[in-house]
Amino acid sequence: MPVTDPRRWTPDSWQMRPATQQPQYPDDSALQTALADLARLPPLVTSWEVNQLKAQLARAQAGEFFVLQGGDCAESFADCQAPIIANRLKVLLQMSLVLVHGLRTRVLRIGRFAGQYAKPRSADLETRDGVTLPSYRGDLVNAPAFTPEARAPDPRRLLEGHARSAMTLNFVRGLIDGGFADLHHPEYWDLDWVRHSPLAADYQRRVDNLGDSVRFMETLAGRPVGDFSRVEFFTSHEALLLWAEQAQTRTVPRAEGWFNLSTHFPWIGMRTADLAGAHVEYCRGIENPLGVKVGAAMDNDWLLGLCETLNPRRIPGRLTLIHRLGAAQIGDHLPRMIETVREAGHPVLWLCDPMHGNTRSTGNGYKTRPFDAILDELTQAFDLHRGCGSRLGGVHLELTGEDVTECTGGARNLTETDLSRAYTSTVDPRLNYEQALELALKIVEMG
Ligand code: PEP
Ligand code: CO
Repeated sequence: MPVTDPRRWTPDSWQMRPATQQPQYPDDSALQTALADLARLPPLVTSWEVNQLKAQLARAQAGEFFVLQGGDCAESFADCQAPIIANRLKVLLQMSLVLVHGLRTRVLRIGRFAGQYAKPRSADLETRDGVTLPSYRGDLVNAPAFTPEARAPDPRRLLEGHARSAMTLNFVRGLIDGGFADLHHPEYWDLDWVRHSPLAADYQRRVDNLGDSVRFMETLAGRPVGDFSRVEFFTSHEALLLWAEQAQTRTVPRAEGWFNLSTHFPWIGMRTADLAGAHVEYCRGIENPLGVKVGAAMDNDWLLGLCETLNPRRIPGRLTLIHRLGAAQIGDHLPRMIETVREAGHPVLWLCDPMHGNTRSTGNGYKTRPFDAILDELTQAFDLHRGCGSRLGGVHLELTGEDVTECTGGARNLTETDLSRAYTSTVDPRLNYEQALELALKIVEMG
């Protein structure tokens, strides 16, 4: 039955709309069994946390926080390991320390982790040497190896993804509650390179400076200042695989509405932002704060339609627009977007994703992103917002705490021939830890 009343929403009303980017499961009863299991498992996050993030995003919109959202393009099940999770947390903490110190503002940290397991792809099928198989859609759906077994969508992966997200989040929460993120102890976050990187001195100076300020404030206050010993981390992932999202959409006692309790902050990707599509339908009905990726192909009517549909009551903190326009196009599109949203009086938080508009392929078959293009887009983003009387409220990045070689450039000037040394991303190229920290150091010059 079509949804004729535009206000009517249920967790499954998306099923009446065209749902792109969904896998074709070969066995529907296996899918239904997995979804029923998933729907019974405890949630990963709580409605309190979700509402708290929404309130903090509203404050970020008002200029009280700068948002750092970052992590893998695609998390993999195999990378659900203590050192990899801890290193990713370390680089995000180091970046946020630099941002707090350099921008003189509080930082709101949102990881692209604990559930970033499903990926949109430009084609449903992939052909190699005359053999055609389903595309790899992220570990939540299938496996990257090019064999019929690996590429067959397997619904048991939905449960595995939930388990690995829970393990990731459990470890992150444990580290943070145990004092890992304590600003008094930035040495906990040292990654090996800090000692021999060209950026080490700048970073160390900021650490020392901030440490002095914290000690000074605590001397004045005569007691430890609580906020410095505990930071918060929120989780986010692209709300792509709607069967899984629906199975984790719940009501809770003493709060109104439906919550997606698989993550604090789901976002709608560029390929699934169709106003009449299933993803927008699903997202409009949940209470979570929402992100939407905004690309150059999005005209003003479409953009406004998204604002109206996803935030009809114009609640501050509800909607974050993440523009990913590319260094070459941001100047042509961002001003009209800022103007359109402002004229309509929509409260939004603006983030810049300088990764997805700057992807290119090398001659030797790698997807890469030049560090300079990323930097260029971010610099323009800050300037354009300022020029339009708006404010860039944060960044959305693909990064890792490992020493990968996926993006070219940066302080060590990685070249295309370096890429084969340590290219491990299954989808998009990420900043390595050094490039990520360098970017944070540059952001404070722009902000
Ligand atoms: C992503 O964030 O990994 C992604 C696919 O982005 P976009 O939807 O902006 O292309
Ligand atoms: Co990506």
